[in-house]
Amino acid sequence: MLFRNRFLLLLALAALLAFLSLSLQFLHLIPVNPVKEDALNPKSRKRIMPDPLTEPPAIDPIYEARVYCNIPTITERSMEGQVPHYFKLVSVHVLIRHGDRYPLYAIPKTKRPDIDCMLVSSRKPSHPQLEAFIRHMSKGSEAQMDGTLSSLPRYPSHASCEMGELTQTGVVQHLQNGQLLREIYMKKHKLLLSDWTAKHLYLESTGKSRTLQSGLALLYTLLPDFDWKNINVRHQWSTIFCSGSCDCPMRNHYLEEEQRRQYSLRVKNSDLERVYVDMAKIVGIPTRQLRASNPIDSLLCYFCHNVSFPCTKNGCISIEHFKIIKTHQLEDERERQEKKLYFFYALLATYPLLNQTVNRMQRIAEGKKEEVLVLYSAHDVTLSPVLSALGITEARFPRFAARLVFELWQDGKKHREHFIRILYNGVDVTFQTSFCQDYNMHSSKSACPLEKFVHFVKRDMFSVFNSTNYYDACHRRPL
Ligand SMILES: *[C@@H]1O[C@H](CO)[C@@H](O)[C@H](O)[C@H]1NC(C)=O
Ligand SMILES: *[C@@H]1O[C@H](CO)[C@@H](O)[C@H](O)[C@H]1NC(C)=O
Ligand SMILES: *[C@@H]1O[C@H](CO)[C@@H](O)[C@H](O)[C@H]1NC(C)=O
Repeated sequence: MLFRNRFLLLLALAALLAFLSLSLQFLHLIPVNPVKEDALNPKSRKRIMPDPLTEPPAIDPIYEARVYCNIPTITERSMEGQVPHYFKLVSVHVLIRHGDRYPLYAIPKTKRPDIDCMLVSSRKPSHPQLEAFIRHMSKGSEAQMDGTLSSLPRYPSHASCEMGELTQTGVVQHLQNGQLLREIYMKKHKLLLSDWTAKHLYLESTGKSRTLQSGLALLYTLLPDFDWKNINVRHQWSTIFCSGSCDCPMRNHYLEEEQRRQYSLRVKNSDLERVYVDMAKIVGIPTRQLRASNPIDSLLCYFCHNVSFPCTKNGCISIEHFKIIKTHQLEDERERQEKKLYFFYALLATYPLLNQTVNRMQRIAEGKKEEVLVLYSAHDVTLSPVLSALGITEARFPRFAARLVFELWQDGKKHREHFIRILYNGVDVTFQTSFCQDYNMHSSKSACPLEKFVHFVKRDMFSVFNSTNYYDACHRRPL
């Protein structure tokens, strides 16, 4: 009897650990990688996007954390829209992560970071169009938004931020994104003419205020003073945008395997365990409770907002604690790339979204003039698997306000030929993708034939599962 009870206790403990490791996955903080973004593309060895911070040679957790914060600075330059002059831009698909937000979790028994979520144009970081944005958002009652989205506020407005709320930094990040895309796609390449209407756009957001507000901030500077009647935002309930095709047992299988990998890497890291024990002592709670409160999510907020880490009568959480947790995230990300479980998960998770994107591009290539500008406003757990599935393994984990852009171009000399380019935070990653890597080696092209992307999504994506389609790959037994 005693033995049996002990067994049940162990079982419960195991379940708890599994749950904790599962939460980690969704803490949206799976880390970043040292970037060698130009390594695969000899043509772009010259740095086109100088970073305000000098890039150090080895992994530097503080440098990586700053990149993740993505604090708005001077307008960045980017490689969006750079093609031969006879190419015509016919469609653009933008997938964004929401901007800077207040933490999703609180560290128990500590004072939460004191951050103001009211928009005030005199406070830094600011944007010349911030006030006009607020005015325009207050007039948005005519917008058509799916169910729950229409009841969300269109911009943040709490003197003390709520959990997960978009901050002014987050709004400014996306005002900058929109402005940058406007210069290139609207002014230079005339993607939409002034008589555009609702049918030219396809907008989709998850049901969080931070994603809706991020999307609206980007749209506001991309299409200044847009007519609200033309704004129709669809609600996406799934963070991987799988809509009506979410049933995929093998996707869940690989995610669970990936979480097991993550868990065993964590328990092997004695430095990390020591930091959790230490921090738990400072805060005065059991270690497991501290770990479950996902302290790195909160600490990143203190860090990004230059607020000193919390103290109690037992001491202070320090930058050394922060560095060790952040370094572990970076190591976890590296192992994740090597072990492939996440890659298998990502292929299955992102098929519905990539399929939809390919379908839209094909319709445009056939001459249809609708849905030429697509915006998906989403999360790190949306962008990260898309990068993985496309084979862009050099990319860092999505920072706040990260953007992934798919451009579709028509060859002005041979009208039937279409090309795509893919850009991550302004860097051309087209030839890092698994389906266009070789293409670049043998030619001097600046874009990838649309066919290559179509064949990848419609056929080759599932070949690693020894399978030719989504349904089959989703229901097949593990390799
Ligand atoms: C961060 O805060 C410290 C004092 O708390 C201040 O000296 C420093 O200038 C601040 N840095 C930035 C970038 O605001
Ligand atoms: C993929 O796109 C095709 C249209 O080309 C559609 O019939 C199919 O339902 C889509 N599959 C999924 C899983 O989204
Ligand atoms: C792949 O599929 C083929 C045909 O169905 C089968 O003969 C082969 O054994 C499969 N290979 C693996 C590794 O499952």
